[in-house]
Amino acid sequence: MFEKVTAAPADPILGLTDAFRKDTRTHKINLGVGIYKDEAGQTPVLRCVKKAEARLVQEQTTKNYLSIEGIEAYGQVVQKLLFGEDAAIIANKRARTAQAPGGTGALRIAGEFIARQLDTNTIWISNPTWANHRAVFTAAGLEVKEYGYYNADAKDLDFNAMLSSLEDAKAGDVVLFHGCCHNPTGIDPTAEQWQQLAKLSADKGWLPMFDFAYQGFAQGTEEDAFGLREFAKHNPELLIASSFSKNFGLYNERVGAFTLVANDEDSANTSFSQVKSIIRANYSNPPSHGANVVAIIANDPELYADWQAELAEMRDRIQEMRTLFVEKLASRGVNQDFSFIARQNGMFSFSGLSKEQVERLKDEFAIYIVGSGRISVAGITKANIDALCDGIAAVL
Ligand code: LMR
Repeated sequence: MFEKVTAAPADPILGLTDAFRKDTRTHKINLGVGIYKDEAGQTPVLRCVKKAEARLVQEQTTKNYLSIEGIEAYGQVVQKLLFGEDAAIIANKRARTAQAPGGTGALRIAGEFIARQLDTNTIWISNPTWANHRAVFTAAGLEVKEYGYYNADAKDLDFNAMLSSLEDAKAGDVVLFHGCCHNPTGIDPTAEQWQQLAKLSADKGWLPMFDFAYQGFAQGTEEDAFGLREFAKHNPELLIASSFSKNFGLYNERVGAFTLVANDEDSANTSFSQVKSIIRANYSNPPSHGANVVAIIANDPELYADWQAELAEMRDRIQEMRTLFVEKLASRGVNQDFSFIARQNGMFSFSGLSKEQVERLKDEFAIYIVGSGRISVAGITKANIDALCDGIAAVL
């Protein structure tokens, strides 16, 4: 029977990592997948995570199943980070959170909840967006539509295109926003634009959804929640898929969350019962390790302060690489203006390199970049930046 099966195309991001692993050239550089590298080129286990894990090993008494929605203390941590410590949404019990296997797992839960429980079947995503969004939502049974986002000439947000394409979004349609550090462009709306979008969403009756995978990588955990919190002020219902893969460096522990905000506590509980059915039919209940680690850190003031300091270290190092990258390209006589890279947020830069240039970088220089031209700046170090800039200067 299997002879009828045809091969699937390689994943645009993780497929690149597979190809990178197989590449035997010792000078190879992987700027494909969004993974933080320190100055030594390692993806470290955060110090606060190591401490929390030691405590967990000491204190853990069972490996019993978690509940369908996961660890309660973890859900509380997620909500405080999303909405703020003293948010009324939390006090009024309008939010329910399910621990999820990574941000991707949370997106899939959201997709199935929309497809099965809501009157709409349509989700609007930005063009461009994370390469997996369309696949996740289509697999959940949704129709995916795109709104304009990026002005390739200005290398900036095309806010007018965004507004004009969203004129076609109907009341009840789901509109997906990136909480911060838009993937792949690194360009976020300004505070004023967030305010405008939040009010527009309420006026139009959209159901806003946030993919929030990089909280803390733009300016800080509180600052980066500005857009989401503006939406929460004006919109009675919200869906959020969040992740601690990046900001806690817990990539392979799959630590994400699906959060639903409803009009009131009753409605939140009723909707959440359907979310639990979706989870039960998918993976039954979540794994515990990473979520336990996050809950330990967030509930210990000293570890929490350590985490914030380590997150700031990661954020500052990426910012330093952005500035250096722009300088080094200019010093190689590249006359194209790359200064926009220093203004973008988070792990990624949308470089403007063409598919052909990206191919040449891989074939001739062993430099791996996503086909869209997205560069993971988080993978640039002082040790690889010269080779990287030499390669880019050559293909330009
Ligand atoms: C990325 O965009 O590189 C990350 O979100 C990792 C992934 O799963 O694609």
